[in-house]
Amino acid sequence: MSRMPLPYNPKILELFKNPKNVGKMEDATVTAVAGNPMCGDMITFYLKINDQDIIEKASFESYGCAANIATSSIVTEMVKGLKLEDAWKISWKSVTEAVGGLPSVKFHCGILAVGALKRAIRKYYRNKGVSPDWLRGGRTFEEKQALEEEDLAKLLTKRMKAAEEKQC
Ligand code: FES
Repeated sequence: MSRMPLPYNPKILELFKNPKNVGKMEDATVTAVAGNPMCGDMITFYLKINDQDIIEKASFESYGCAANIATSSIVTEMVKGLKLEDAWKISWKSVTEAVGGLPSVKFHCGILAVGALKRAIRKYYRNKGVSPDWLRGGRTFEEKQALEEEDLAKLLTKRMKAAEEKQC
C-alpha cells in the first residue's frame, strides 16, 4: 500500500531542502535538547547570548521530519537579535504561521522546536542562578508537551521491555 505524501506548502519544502543555521555551535552559551521518541525525532538547540541577554545567534541539529527541520530553521531566524524575554513569547502557533501552516498531524513538530528553544532559555537562567519575573509562571505549553511525550515514550519502552521479558 502506498502512502499519500503530506500536503506541505512550498515554504516548508524550501526550508526543509535549504534549512538555515544548521549545525552544532561550538561557542554556544546554552544548549538544550527536546525529543519525541514516539516518532524518533530529536532536536538540539544552540543559543549564543550576550551580556544584555540578547540572542546573537541560534542554530540547531535535528533528527526530525521535514516539518521539524523547517520550523526549527525558522525559529533560529526569528530569535536572532531578540531579547530573551521576547524570544520567550514565541509560541508554536506563531511558528506554524511563519512557515505558512502545517498539516495538523505535524503540529507537534513545531511544538518540539519551540519546546527546545524554551528549554534553552530556562536553562540559561538556571545556570546563572537568576529567575526573571516573566519566567516564573510554570512550564509553557510547549515545554509541557515535550515532557509529556518524553515521559510517555519512556513508559511505553518500559512496558515493551516487560512484555518481552515475559515472553522469554
Ligand atoms: Fe516527529 Fe515531526 S514527526 S517531529
